[in-house]
Amino acid sequence: MDIAIIGAGNVGKALATSFKRAGHDVVIASRDPEDAGNVAAATHSRVATSNARAVAGADVIVLAIPFSSASAVAAEIAGAVAGKPVVDATNRMSFGANGPDIDTTTSNAEELAALLPGAKVIKAFNTIFATHQSDPIAEGVQLSGFVAGDDAEAKATVLELVREIGLEPVDVGPLVRARQLEGLAFLNITLNIVNGGSWQSGWKLVGAPIAAPVAA
Ligand SMILES: NC(=O)c1ccc[n+]([C@@H]2O[C@H](COP(=O)([O-])OP(=O)(O)OC[C@H]3O[C@@H](n4cnc5c(N)ncnc54)[C@H](OP(=O)(O)O)[C@@H]3O)[C@@H](O)[C@H]2O)c1
Repeated sequence: MDIAIIGAGNVGKALATSFKRAGHDVVIASRDPEDAGNVAAATHSRVATSNARAVAGADVIVLAIPFSSASAVAAEIAGAVAGKPVVDATNRMSFGANGPDIDTTTSNAEELAALLPGAKVIKAFNTIFATHQSDPIAEGVQLSGFVAGDDAEAKATVLELVREIGLEPVDVGPLVRARQLEGLAFLNITLNIVNGGSWQSGWKLVGAPIAAPVAA
């Protein structure tokens, strides 16, 4: 597959590494084309000089950006991602009187879907720290790759991508479940912040029930 990654930070680099290892063609774009070029060189990927150029020929698009950039990126790519899977790997966190906090009444993924009404938005990779996006084993255990989305075909594509890079795919249901996936990530991030963790922890759901196939 041709995969476009927007964002050349920790997540962009880690996922490019894994997608290339799985045999996919990867193109990377970022706000600074030099950053994107460096990550592309390090991961044997291609670089695009704009977000719009990166997504033009892509089968799957992965957003590896701070969610604060989502509306700007959506405006740049909206015309080219209609009908395509757009994977939201972002997380959310705020800081209140009691420390780290999260708004559970919505999710970044649902907000992204509203920004990109023609795209098939899928939530994936957000519960896995970048270190384990490139190496899916934590303390000898294969981590879970939770995936949520409303479009069955797009979700199947992303579940397969998750499997190919070495995670155990877990279909958690419709896009609204992204609220809980962002909550899972929030909990892991918060534990590492509060306890000075090494950012190596990860989620494994043991014996995850597999959804029954939908009758044709
Ligand atoms: N780090 C993790 O372990 C981890 C794990 C799971 C999910 N996440 C989530 O994944 C997202 C990325 O995290 P990260 O750690 O990779 O962040 P990061 O290292 O700060 O990288 C973010 C990248 O996005 C780029 N970017 C920002 N605005 C952009 C725009 N308008 N167009 C194109 N590129 C843009 C940044 O470019 P500039 O340098 O120019 O700003 C940078 O290359 C975040 O939402 C985070 O919550 C992170």
